[in-house]
Amino acid sequence: GAIAVGVLIGAYLLGSIPTGYWLTKALKGIDIRESGSGSTGATNVLRTVGKGAALTVLLVDILKGVAAVFLVRFAYQGNWLTSTPLTSTPLSEQLQDWMVVLAGFLALFGHSLSIWLIWNQPEGKSLSKGGKSAATSLGVLLALYWPVGLLTFALFGSVIGITRIVSLGSMTAAIAVSALMAAFHQPLAYEIFGIMGGLYVIWRHRSNIERLLAGTEPKIGTSAPLDP
Ligand code: G3P
Repeated sequence: GAIAVGVLIGAYLLGSIPTGYWLTKALKGIDIRESGSGSTGATNVLRTVGKGAALTVLLVDILKGVAAVFLVRFAYQGNWLTSTPLTSTPLSEQLQDWMVVLAGFLALFGHSLSIWLIWNQPEGKSLSKGGKSAATSLGVLLALYWPVGLLTFALFGSVIGITRIVSLGSMTAAIAVSALMAAFHQPLAYEIFGIMGGLYVIWRHRSNIERLLAGTEPKIGTSAPLDP
């Protein structure tokens, strides 16, 4: 019980690490939630600061998702060094799959609603914008089953390569995950992560959808309107 609660809180806290917010604050002294799309994700860091910072944020945000999954596996299976689990009451393989998926969700949720950011909202903005959880979901996928993670990333990259619009890449990838999980005969829990995680990421992109429909969604290399 205590281990499970600890692991889930840990996953939320990992997801909560506001990489984009902190890095932008450190490098430029500004609140990224008041710049570009208002998102704390790598895409908005690219607009607001530049390539190096954006790549750093992308990488760390992916690693947060990976770490959330590893945290569960570490707790219930031990690590590769000691292989001693933290708990003496092991979970069945199936229950572990669900724990992993729950931890993954909490990491996504933490990324979008960070405990570090909910207390200091920019004036006149609704509750935390955080990020859109695309990078963190990719990390979760890579750790759940890396072939699906890699294919999702490839699809994301291809759509961006063709359209130059990051949100289109994120949303196309989000839609594809559940199909990929099914194609690779992954456990039901992973399939559910594909569906629910995908829906969550798309929901986080609602302002992008509005801009796409209005034809105002910016391409890479141009700046976004401030209407997060
Ligand atoms: O992953 C986020 C990306 O899809 C969109 O970011 O800043 O253009 O709203 P942004």
